[in-house]
Amino acid sequence: MLIRAFRPLLQQQIKISLCLASTSSDLPKNVLEDKITSHLQKSNGTVYDKKPFKITLEAGKKYFWCLCGKSKAQPFCDGTHNNTFLKIKQRPVKFEVEATKDYWLCQCKQTNMRPFCDGTHKTKIVQEATSTVRQ
Ligand code: FES
Repeated sequence: MLIRAFRPLLQQQIKISLCLASTSSDLPKNVLEDKITSHLQKSNGTVYDKKPFKITLEAGKKYFWCLCGKSKAQPFCDGTHNNTFLKIKQRPVKFEVEATKDYWLCQCKQTNMRPFCDGTHKTKIVQEATSTVRQ
C-alpha cells in the first residue's frame, strides 16, 4: 500500500539514480523481452526482501521470476499468485539470460529492469517498507 502511494516519486528517484549510477546497458537483459510482455505489468508486488539474490543462471533455460512477492521459492514463482483467495494481480515474469553466469535478481519487486536488480532496493521508500524477510 505504501509503495503504491509513493510510486510516482519512487520512479522519479529511480530514474535520477540510474542516470547518475549507471546506464541500462550495464544491466543484464532478458532475452525474451521482445517476445513476451510479462515484464511490462503496471503494478509491482510487495517487498519480499530489501536486497537482491545472487544466483547462477543458465543460458537458454527459461525461468519465472516472482513479481507478486508472495512466492515461498524466492526469487522464483511457486504458483502462489494462482490462489484466488489472495487476489494477487501480478503474474510471474518469464525470462532467459544471454550467458551462463551469476546474476543479481531483484527481491524487493520494485525494480525497473525486471527481473534483475537495478538498485531500487537502496531507495528510502524500499528500505523503510515492510518486507516479508525480517531485516
Ligand atoms: S532487490 Fe529490487 S532493485 Fe535490488
